[in-house]
Amino acid sequence: MTTGSLLILAGDGIGPEVMAEVRKIIDWYGAKRDLSFDVSEGLVGGCSYDAHGTPLTDETMARAQEVDAVLLGAVGGPAYDNLDFSVKPERGLLRLRKEMDLYSNLRPAQCFDALADFSSLKKDVVAGLDIMIVRELTSGIYFGEPRGIIKEGNERVGINTQRYTESEIARVARSAFELARRRGNKVCSMEKANVMESGILWRDVVTEVHAAEYADVELSHMYADAGAMQLCRWPKQFDVIVTDNLFGDLLSDAAAMLTGSLGMLPSASLGAPMENGRPKALYEPVHGSAPDIAGQGKANPIACVLSFAMALRYSFDLGAEADRLEAAVEKVLADGVRTADLLGQEGVTPVSTSQMGDAIVAALDASL
Ligand code: IPM
Ligand code: MG
Repeated sequence: MTTGSLLILAGDGIGPEVMAEVRKIIDWYGAKRDLSFDVSEGLVGGCSYDAHGTPLTDETMARAQEVDAVLLGAVGGPAYDNLDFSVKPERGLLRLRKEMDLYSNLRPAQCFDALADFSSLKKDVVAGLDIMIVRELTSGIYFGEPRGIIKEGNERVGINTQRYTESEIARVARSAFELARRRGNKVCSMEKANVMESGILWRDVVTEVHAAEYADVELSHMYADAGAMQLCRWPKQFDVIVTDNLFGDLLSDAAAMLTGSLGMLPSASLGAPMENGRPKALYEPVHGSAPDIAGQGKANPIACVLSFAMALRYSFDLGAEADRLEAAVEKVLADGVRTADLLGQEGVTPVSTSQMGDAIVAALDASL
């Protein structure tokens, strides 16, 4: 019996390089832990545009709907900057999120002990940091109508609409409260209720869901701008942060950089449970396609590897195996193995993308 099905969409730039290391990890689990995944591959982003004239074909979209989990590398690159908006690489990613209805985007910001010096903040502010941003991913200003660039007299006007229904807010709030119960039991909800009606509704609905179903979890509210400030001032005050699509985009980048290791952070995008009880799911590193270093073996595969660890945990209920993989990554870092993005100490020679993958596999071996 297979453990489950995976669709790998490596994408553009460094996507294929980092995903090749994840393939080694998947193979390791097959050989050493008897977990066999039914793996298929497809195209997304610029590479799909090159092959098919669209950043995501209907066939690949349909396959993504069937599998237990999608693993995505990264999309985009300068070659595609001037494409029409409707076929830009990012549209492929946004279509996956929307059509799979992946409303809950989990973005952990975790500071690895071995890397605490890489943060732009003081070491004691970030050492041991472990927070989880839950970003609403399928609604809000990213998708609201009306949108577009219209003509008004002699002027063009750019329009986007922030729109949230109660049920959209309630379901992502539940997802945040559920996670908090398995962590530090604290949720901070962020919006701009001082200027936006959608923010007022957000605060009301989060408060209602909390009172009705999650009164055991500690809940606080913050305006998103103050939240950004608090993230820089004392990030360890947070456990789970729940916020909308656009604020979540900004706050998660800021939180990621606190850890000093943007190249190390994974993410999970989860939807409602499928018939087999598993959530619809897509896993991807937080970093982008890094076209400047693509194809040179310099990329850090850890974010993509840790995204697979999240897949083990959230799609396949293999929490202990996810812990094993995360511990292997920690060990490799503690041993001083560094890709080029993590240099800083003199006298350390960087390893290549592939050597980092091999080191993680060796650490997995040592875990047995
Ligand atoms: C992210 C990215 C995407 C977003 C882009 C690539 C569409 O910035 O996943 O955070 O804005 O959501
Ligand atoms: Mg972003």
